[in-house]
Amino acid sequence: MYQEFLSFPDDFAWGTATASYQIEGGAREDGKGPSIWDTFSHTKGKIEDGKDGDIAVDHYHRYPEDIALMKSLGLQNYRLSLAWTRILPEGRGRVEPRGLDFYDRLIDGLLEAGVTPWVTLYHWDLPQALQDSGGWTNRKTVDAFGEYADIATRRLGDRVKNWMTFNEPWVASVCGNLYGVHAPGLKDVKTTLAVAHGILLGHGRAVPIVRANVPGGRVGIVNNLAHIEPATGSEADAAAARRWDGAFNRWYMDPVFKGAYPADMLEWFGDLAPKVLSGDMESISAPTDFFGLNYYTRRLVTHDDGEVLIKAKQVYRPYGWRAEFEEFEDWPEALYLVLRRLRDEYGNPVTYVSENGTTSIDSIGDDGCVHDQVRVDYLRRHFAAAWQARKEGAKVEGYFIWSLLDNFEWGFGFSKRFGIVYVDYEDGLRRVLKDSAHYLADVIRKKGFMVRSR
Ligand code: FCB
Repeated sequence: MYQEFLSFPDDFAWGTATASYQIEGGAREDGKGPSIWDTFSHTKGKIEDGKDGDIAVDHYHRYPEDIALMKSLGLQNYRLSLAWTRILPEGRGRVEPRGLDFYDRLIDGLLEAGVTPWVTLYHWDLPQALQDSGGWTNRKTVDAFGEYADIATRRLGDRVKNWMTFNEPWVASVCGNLYGVHAPGLKDVKTTLAVAHGILLGHGRAVPIVRANVPGGRVGIVNNLAHIEPATGSEADAAAARRWDGAFNRWYMDPVFKGAYPADMLEWFGDLAPKVLSGDMESISAPTDFFGLNYYTRRLVTHDDGEVLIKAKQVYRPYGWRAEFEEFEDWPEALYLVLRRLRDEYGNPVTYVSENGTTSIDSIGDDGCVHDQVRVDYLRRHFAAAWQARKEGAKVEGYFIWSLLDNFEWGFGFSKRFGIVYVDYEDGLRRVLKDSAHYLADVIRKKGFMVRSR
């Protein structure tokens, strides 16, 4: 029987990830202002289960318990995001000290527990006040983001050394402004591309601010990348796959790593492309210290005239492994291929898998445990893909599981569970470690894991 222990180095950064709106709750506490997600989740019909993030999983109050959970599992890294409107309720101007105090307590608690914090400045919860004046299509939002980044890094930069500017600009722009399934719920092609540009400008604005305010700090952006394949051997599908790759991967990677939008996509978008001013691309492509890769799926793509932006759509194979979150295929090879591509096409940046994980239909068994074997298998196979890419020279230096806790999964509400810790919504938000949490703890303890043939 084939078996092999795949080992990871001592300083490999294992951890978990979360986002403010998905876990904190405390939506109107301590002076917090409304974000576009507060507005969107309270708009009838927008969230699948009709719920909102007002309480979420109450991390705002239970953070000591959640930190203790991390400590008990030996998780030495934790990626969290700040809620911009806790710190600046109107997006700019007046600072809310109680918001900053909360993040102070959270960071101190993590450090006391031996957990290194990795902080994302923007995980989609734009202040509603800024959306009201055009959101990311308005360059004043970029100024406001710079002010917020300055305040946050001045306050926390003595203790937080790893900063991530934006989470998944593709999702924030496309799901929010073209598909309308995320906040702010718009459906406009031109707005979508203007928002994407505004977000990239925000990234460029924040990089020197983090550098100036955080002694010994490091900064990077988090993009979600997928491995794209044409569904058939036809030329139409090959072109559709190139467009999907252009609009999904390269549109957000090339400006940051190569200082330009991809030429083929600029031509494809034509008049819809955003207005780029002189200096924009220099700012967006300022060197960063690492890249955060959120990886969830490969995408098999076919030509489709009905799709407005790129005339392409994702298809699935009946024999493929689709996650319970149906858009995602369980396809670890694609993680390996994406990491190899970062090595070959983007200068092999120091990379952290800043999110990877899966949903499964979890429940508490008669023995009081949650046996999420689907997630354990998923994680093991994806860890192995990262191991293989490392072996071939990709600079993967850490891995954060999405997510620490079951939480508010955006448009799906609480109907999808991504956590390695179960949250019992019927029983006072009680936390129960799933088998996957024990598995991850074991991998961290042993600095690797065994794979074997079946
Ligand atoms: C990513 C998001 C994260 C979570 C996972 C499942 O796109 O960054 O907040 O929703 O998907």
